[in-house]
Amino acid sequence: MTKREEWATRIGFVLSAIGSAIGLGNIWRFPYMVYSNGGGAFLVPYFFALLTAGIPIMILEFAIGHKYRGSAPLTFFRICKKWEWLGWWQSLVCFVIAVYYIVVISWALNYTIFSFGLKWGDNPNDFFMKQFLNISKSPWEFGGLQLNILLGTLVLWFFVWLVLFSGVRKGIEIANKLFMPLLFVMILIMLGRSVVLEGASSGLNWLFKPNFKAITNYKVWAAAYGQIFFSLSICFAIMITYASYLPAKSDLANNGTITSFINCGFSMLAGIVIFSILGYMANQQGVSVKEVASSGVGLAFITLPKAINLLPFPKFFGFLFFLSLVFAGFTSMISISEGCCSAFIDKFGWDRRRVVTIFSLIGALVSLIFVTRSGLYILDIVDHFVNNFGIIFVGLLEVILISWFFDLESIRAHVNEVSDFRIGRWWNVCLKVITPVVLGYMGVANFIGELKKYYGGYDFKSVFIFGWFVLVLIIVISFLLQHSKSRWPKLQLLNPQTRYK
Ligand code: PHE
Repeated sequence: MTKREEWATRIGFVLSAIGSAIGLGNIWRFPYMVYSNGGGAFLVPYFFALLTAGIPIMILEFAIGHKYRGSAPLTFFRICKKWEWLGWWQSLVCFVIAVYYIVVISWALNYTIFSFGLKWGDNPNDFFMKQFLNISKSPWEFGGLQLNILLGTLVLWFFVWLVLFSGVRKGIEIANKLFMPLLFVMILIMLGRSVVLEGASSGLNWLFKPNFKAITNYKVWAAAYGQIFFSLSICFAIMITYASYLPAKSDLANNGTITSFINCGFSMLAGIVIFSILGYMANQQGVSVKEVASSGVGLAFITLPKAINLLPFPKFFGFLFFLSLVFAGFTSMISISEGCCSAFIDKFGWDRRRVVTIFSLIGALVSLIFVTRSGLYILDIVDHFVNNFGIIFVGLLEVILISWFFDLESIRAHVNEVSDFRIGRWWNVCLKVITPVVLGYMGVANFIGELKKYYGGYDFKSVFIFGWFVLVLIIVISFLLQHSKSRWPKLQLLNPQTRYK
């Protein structure tokens, strides 16, 4: 029997968990989420979600991954044979995210290269939409593949393959130990530069100025929970998988809390950098911040290039910004892919190298759909459905099944046995009561809202196929996989003597 792979060091594991958490979601998604959901007031539901759902679920996932030592399907199978599909659901969501996430990293990679000549010119909007994406008129007009994006995507798939092929220690751990410190240095340089720009404070005021009316809107709460789940990579199979590579004596409570706080701290820093720059731009143009900022994809690829044009040393800053998107995105991409591959390695007893190679080939093929001229539309729909429904519901099911139909106390006991600080009963309350109530309410409200109006003004066919159909497919395949023949590895009892060197 081959031994399950293990992290070489504690810092390697923590950096990898942080590497998964910090991604496009922090630099690109967080700022516009705050901005479009009531500014500073958004932070109230955001921190509520972090403290009552984010951290408790992070610790829960570290604990079950560590205790049952498996990828998500294997962990759920060991908890209760009938729950294996829950793990597959999460692992398959990883596949769906992987195929579009890598395309956004490819945009960032292209922009990193463009920054040498500020190739986006004076009109970054036209450049992005017309020249770069060459966007078609509707989701069904695919047009051809966009060469630059294609090249970037293939190069990135190659590196993902390389890292995963090399294994947990030699691949994932080393990549994170390299990229994460670089990313921290880069964000600090950008922070130092941007906050002293003239007009920065007006951008920050705009970002943090609360609009308390927003707090009463369920959509703002849904956005905050969605952001926390996406940003912390919880309920995505990933943290369970990463924790399954931990040696016996590993601090779960501490690592989980550190990962969560560093991730959210990083989001704040990224928000400060971006809005300082927007404040500066508004100041230069003599308009208000509201007029310069745009939400959605546009923020990183349209508004920021515009702002970067106005900065002193624009090439250097542009290079730093887009390269940091690439690094942050790449370490997350590795984790998303591992969340999916590890499931097949465990279930069918296949060799890692074989699974990773097949995964990368199929992944590269499927991601081509996002490289077409209608890629942005499809990406938008898939992203919306997977994150708003796929994840909220699977998260809800995970929390309810484990905390109500399984022995939650035994998991808390496991955490307390190995961790430096003990977690109290508040943890059970968060998982048993608060999170299911809020998530359940939001899930239902969101679902009804969705039925009333097609998302984003798209037509029925697009929303149906790229949204609902993808979700149903994920669930159906999860059950099929649960019922296919498995060759699970034997549970290897942990030897409490194995500590890190
Ligand atoms: N957490 C990552 C981010 O913020 C994205 C991610 C989502 C990673 C889902 C893994 C799984 O960008």
